[in-house]
Amino acid sequence: MRVGVDYYPEQWESSMWQQDAVRMAHTGVRLVRIGEYAWSRLEPSEGEFMFDWLDQVISIFHRCGIEVILSAPTNCPPQWMYHDHPEIIQVGPDGEPVQTGIRGHRCINSPVFQSYAKRITKELARRYSNTRSVVGWQVDNELEAYQCTCEVCREKFREWLMDRFDNLANINVAFGTSVWSNEYSDPSQIEPPGAYPKEWQNPALCLEWYRFQSESAAEFAKDLMITIRRENPNALVTTNTDIGRNSPDLYRLYRDLDIVGYDNYPPIELPENKEEHYSHAFYLDLMRGVKERNFWVMEQLSGPTGTWAPISPSPKPGQIMGYSLQAFAHGADVVLHFRWRTATKGAEMYWHGLLDHSGAPNRRLAEFSELCKTAAKLDGLENTYLISDIAIIYSSENDYAFRTQPQSPGFSYTDQLRSFHEAFSRYGANVDVISGMNDITRYKLVIAPAMYIYNKRVSENLYRYVINGGTLVLTCRSGVKDQNNNCVMEVLPAVFKELVGAEVTEYDPIGEKEQKIRDFAGNEFGCKVWCDIIQTTTARVYAEYNDSWYRCMPAVTMNRYCNGVSYYVGTVCDRDFYESFAANLMMQTGIPRLKGLPRGIEVTTRTNGNDEYIFFFNNSGSHVTIPLPKPMYSMVDSIGKAQLELKPFEMDIVRK
Ligand code: GLA
Ligand code: ZN
Repeated sequence: MRVGVDYYPEQWESSMWQQDAVRMAHTGVRLVRIGEYAWSRLEPSEGEFMFDWLDQVISIFHRCGIEVILSAPTNCPPQWMYHDHPEIIQVGPDGEPVQTGIRGHRCINSPVFQSYAKRITKELARRYSNTRSVVGWQVDNELEAYQCTCEVCREKFREWLMDRFDNLANINVAFGTSVWSNEYSDPSQIEPPGAYPKEWQNPALCLEWYRFQSESAAEFAKDLMITIRRENPNALVTTNTDIGRNSPDLYRLYRDLDIVGYDNYPPIELPENKEEHYSHAFYLDLMRGVKERNFWVMEQLSGPTGTWAPISPSPKPGQIMGYSLQAFAHGADVVLHFRWRTATKGAEMYWHGLLDHSGAPNRRLAEFSELCKTAAKLDGLENTYLISDIAIIYSSENDYAFRTQPQSPGFSYTDQLRSFHEAFSRYGANVDVISGMNDITRYKLVIAPAMYIYNKRVSENLYRYVINGGTLVLTCRSGVKDQNNNCVMEVLPAVFKELVGAEVTEYDPIGEKEQKIRDFAGNEFGCKVWCDIIQTTTARVYAEYNDSWYRCMPAVTMNRYCNGVSYYVGTVCDRDFYESFAANLMMQTGIPRLKGLPRGIEVTTRTNGNDEYIFFFNNSGSHVTIPLPKPMYSMVDSIGKAQLELKPFEMDIVRK
């Protein structure tokens, strides 16, 4: 397993490169990512390319045995480009150009910008296509579904809509523009959502805008990938992604790229409230699920964070190493720490890397060096992968749609997914988080929370899955919207009614107020946020409400449909419910469960088809002891063990 760092040679005196590379090699670094913000050093004036310094950097690393992931620097155009071509600047939703002198503020749809972006990428790819130590490419940096409202984006958006909907009449119907007299009589009247609060915006227009901007980001990345491939047909190309407010549709973004890249910043403080989710395992599984194969971590937590907020606490002993190994446990094959040195200049000077400003040896670097040693022992695991019996369906579109129209106070789409994810994790099961667009028949259990916006392919997959004997769980806010983000005129869960054998006669969005439900065995659990009041048609009751005016009405149901079973969870429950529900589901579908794992212990398995490697991660602040069913060989300590002793955030990996 390869561990490395992100490095910004352009931010340091050239005399430091050699020392840094030697020190990295000594620490155990095997890979560096460089270049993503270095455009002004690579093309200091129009068409004048300066690669000598980069040649030098790459050869220094090469001599130290360190491989390179080279980035196309298109996130930050040089100042001369803004000066000569002011039209490449992004324009905000308020119609005002974003200022220069920051980063990421170019319009990726601008043809002028695109041609410069492709040219610098081509020059780089040409120069380094035969450089053996360049083992991968990153295009741009954290591409977003940008909200650029420049003239190019607006015009392209109109064309894109006309192409998708054929004519203006269809757009008017799809957008429901008869509401508030918004009917378009000419395509030029179509404008992207503006800066007014989202509550005022048309949800159908917003979703199309999100789709359009996701598509723009994906096409931009693909163009750069093709540019690199022309020079180097074997290049491995990725980009990097964090999951935030403007994340594009991940499945679209990565469709044509080779590898998914994730920027992994897990929480430093663990929450006191037991109901709060904190494990980043969910996001790691989500990133693995984007292409349904292993991924790379392009940026990994290395120190106190602080640019976008005041400086955070420092990662606790164990977190630098443990969180990286946690990424490996969930399918990462590469982990790059952000960053080797903390910047002394620029806006990010308080987003700490491994080394502090002084560069003096420190606790975090020492722990990182331990990580490098451990990772080197795991080289045999490079060709291993995770096999899961359980899948959770995630949709970037649903995530976006719920963000723009939160359903009730406290409603969170990802929290619903994470509740299930954490419940299954409690029993040591591998869990995939996938789109549901591909074959799902291999799973014993599929959880599809809040299937809000209609997606034909996923809906058909779910039906087929249950018809053929699968066990499916759906939850409240499913079947609500058509593909245009408009409400359907059907009793909920609309398209899924038959599958779940139940109907939602009414709903009660109760927000943060906690109520009770009681399951078939008489166990009581808390629920909040949303209550579907359900009438069964063919389903049986799994749990009923034990509160409010719908006391004794079904809250959770179970329906046999053809050869399979589908459950419907009409409310949002507490952690205990999901754990008990998960245990029952696993029992019924014959998925093995590890019992008695202390809270916070995460167990996943990677295999190459023959050997199995089990990762035990202590994602808690307490020391734990885990007895093993039989003595097993620890890959970390190279000895046999009958039980594992894990300090906070410590990982052990045993061969089964
Ligand atoms: C993102 C970016 C990095 C850096 C980090 C820390 O992940 O890709 O360049 O800004 O955040 O803020
Ligand atoms: Zn634009």
